[in-house]
Amino acid sequence: MTRYVVARVSDIAPGERKIVELEGRSVGILNVDGEYVALVNRCPHAGAPLCESGTVFGLSNAEQPDGPISYERARSLRCPWHAWEFDLRTGVSFYDPRNTRVRSYPVEVVAAPEQVVEPDHGRREGPLVLEGYDVTVEGDLLVVDTSRRRPGRSTSPVRPADEPGELTAVITTKQTAADGVVVIELERSDGAPLPVWSPGAHVDVILAEDLVRQYSLSGNPADRGTWRIGVLRELQGRGGSAHVHDTLQIGDKIRCRGPRNNFPLVEAKEYVFVAGGIGITPILPMIAQCEATGRPWRLVYGGRFRRSMAFLDELEPYGARVAVRPQDEFGLLDLAVTLGESRDGVAVYCCGPGPLIDAVEQHCASWPEGTLHVERFRAAEGALNGAKTAFDVVCDRSDTVVRVAEGQSVVEALAAAGIHVPTSCGEGTCGTCETVVLAGVPDHRDSFLSPQERASNEVMTPCCSRSHSPQLVLDL
Ligand code: FES
Repeated sequence: MTRYVVARVSDIAPGERKIVELEGRSVGILNVDGEYVALVNRCPHAGAPLCESGTVFGLSNAEQPDGPISYERARSLRCPWHAWEFDLRTGVSFYDPRNTRVRSYPVEVVAAPEQVVEPDHGRREGPLVLEGYDVTVEGDLLVVDTSRRRPGRSTSPVRPADEPGELTAVITTKQTAADGVVVIELERSDGAPLPVWSPGAHVDVILAEDLVRQYSLSGNPADRGTWRIGVLRELQGRGGSAHVHDTLQIGDKIRCRGPRNNFPLVEAKEYVFVAGGIGITPILPMIAQCEATGRPWRLVYGGRFRRSMAFLDELEPYGARVAVRPQDEFGLLDLAVTLGESRDGVAVYCCGPGPLIDAVEQHCASWPEGTLHVERFRAAEGALNGAKTAFDVVCDRSDTVVRVAEGQSVVEALAAAGIHVPTSCGEGTCGTCETVVLAGVPDHRDSFLSPQERASNEVMTPCCSRSHSPQLVLDL
């Protein structure tokens, strides 16, 4: 038995946590009303520091009536990055409709120096596993036994796979905000508070069974009564924006899922926001948060014409920190001027048309890893191209092998075999279908995963991605 004294009981009050380092691994020791939990400080979704969060150290109580989702009575831990929540008793993710498999590994402790780890909010890449250890109370001591692992896999879904946090909302306002842009406000149809969200979050709006679109929340996160979205009419679109513009009216009820945040505001010394057109929507609440917390920021906002750029009136009070650059007046954005030289401590956020994001990515290619954060509304140019040869998918949890035929998507093949993978965008931009890869080499065709995530081959988006290897083993 490997035992490691990590703290005294009196060190960690109920609801508090302590971060220690065991063999170079950051581990959170949490006091959940006298029950102690030790989890490796890494979210299985994207490797973020799971045990560190804001005011309550990532502990939230899902029983709260105005909680973001209602599920079984449980204490949960919320990742501060993408707001994935995990049942502390089982390690099962509430937010992952595929019920992320929780894996654990044995750890041999060869030295036992207790060491408090300073919170590190940098995103860490790593294995997509949530690991944990047993904690026992011996007198006044908390003891982590690293040889006794927590459960190896989830056994039952926490909530139905096709209903991740769905609610019905009613449209309360609909206004034209610029040429081709309508702004819609939504309230819950039952009058209850809306789920919490943070700047950068989006909601899935279910316009019809086969018409689901993602729209960034652009209002005030503190307003639990109203969500605000902006929708650009896409002339070459697939019908979603036209439906919003032409069909939806005040008083209509629509189903929404989420919110989810794939574009969270990270800690930084300074922020540079680059928005193109409707890409301004997720940036607005980010700017408000920077203002509220006194962090330096500036925004360059481009668009085809001034009249096509929404929310200019909201940005006007910010004065010189906002550079409005309609293309017909200023030409293309000068990124050398906009972004400046590579430097530490800056976070660059870009949202807008694909060519703008491509150009910013190119400009920042040699900047420190993790500097640039982008969110695409459509697949990157050419991302979905390539051969569509057949391969096999082994569904590890279902113990099923499914042949993905030439030209068929993984999601389609799995659906035909009765294995449902939730999807939304269907083209690799939203992350709804993100799935853990246990073996094989995915052929990534998404526009969602980070370069590091793609290189790790630990996750993939089966709505559009395929396989380089004859067989892929997925955590399904
Ligand atoms: S459904 Fe959006 S990434 Fe796959």
